[in-house]
Amino acid sequence: MTIQNRKADHINICAREDITPGHCYWDDIRPVHNALPEIDADEIDMSCTLFGKRLEMPLVVTAITGGFPGATKINANIAKACAEMGVAMGVGSERAGITGYFPESFYVVKDYDVPLVIGNIGAPQLVPQNGHAPFTHHDVQSAMDLVDADIMAVHLNFLQEVVQPEGDVNARGCTEAIADLAKEFPIMVKETGGGVSADVARRISGLGIRGIDVAGMGGTSFAAVEQYRAMVASDKIHAALGATFFDWGIPSPVAVSQVKDCGLPVIASGGVLNGIHVASSIMLGATAAGLANAVLREAMDSTAAVVEKLTIIKEELKAAMLLTGCSNLKELSKAPKVILGETRQWMDSL
Ligand SMILES: Cc1cc2nc3c(=O)[nH]c(=O)nc-3n(C[C@H](O)[C@H](O)[C@H](O)COP(=O)(O)O)c2cc1C
Repeated sequence: MTIQNRKADHINICAREDITPGHCYWDDIRPVHNALPEIDADEIDMSCTLFGKRLEMPLVVTAITGGFPGATKINANIAKACAEMGVAMGVGSERAGITGYFPESFYVVKDYDVPLVIGNIGAPQLVPQNGHAPFTHHDVQSAMDLVDADIMAVHLNFLQEVVQPEGDVNARGCTEAIADLAKEFPIMVKETGGGVSADVARRISGLGIRGIDVAGMGGTSFAAVEQYRAMVASDKIHAALGATFFDWGIPSPVAVSQVKDCGLPVIASGGVLNGIHVASSIMLGATAAGLANAVLREAMDSTAAVVEKLTIIKEELKAAMLLTGCSNLKELSKAPKVILGETRQWMDSL
């Protein structure tokens, strides 16, 4: 299985199949309605600063793709839309791009004035793996340069790797490797659907990194994605692993509450679908929200479709801010909320 086939599989499976757990944890966060807000919706300020860059609203379109022919259009549509809407963008894992597979699918983002560009490499690639040597600093510099990244995201995806037939499952040495990279590059750490606990946040926040994207459970499940791939390959063992680990992980809002006091900017992602979820992220202590699957089909279609989707989210966020009486994100972070159901149980148990 080549990297580009795997990347195309991920896009097609995420766009066509049901790859999210049934429960939407973000819907457990209920902002308290303010019937008499006494603010003008047209004066609401949704802007924020993330990693020194100003965003028009607190949103990141997180890593999706790169490294196969169809990825160029997807990344161009996302980049153009993010530039127009003033939000941040991450590219998918750059391993393919820096080893010569369709680099144009990554560097296409340089054609657009995206306010904050986040590069992407995998933590598994920072340590020896199945006879493959780890990335060098030169490789990481190439990944930064490929997209003119403002910051490099190191993704943690051992949930995916352990279910993936060809997975890289050596996790030993990753913490030290991240610390080593953070001495030379602006690094953030992101999960990919499993969430980050308070303990992991404590361990990584002291390594010199600049931020954490919790990417928790409740949205895209890479166990589910790899289950579909294993089924097609008639690999019953990995298909079974994917089914069993389908909803493994820390629900995204729980992960945000776990990580919020780590002293670094926190991106709340994993199952974020609308502007109320973005508002809830800020209320739980995140600096910004992130989403991937919610814009995937639009990104496969056109820039206009992505812009429309982001515009809906922006209008929903503004509506949520009016209806909680908040004229800026600082006020929103202090607005009252109720936490229900499974999310409440998780928070009470940790
Ligand atoms: C098709 C697809 C490909 C992805 N590829 C990457 C990747 O290469 N690197 C990465 O860090 N995250 C990757 N992600 C994970 C997302 O950035 C995000 O953390 C995760 O999907 C949770 O967000 P969501 O529920 O909004 O999709 C990918 C997500 C999707 C849907």
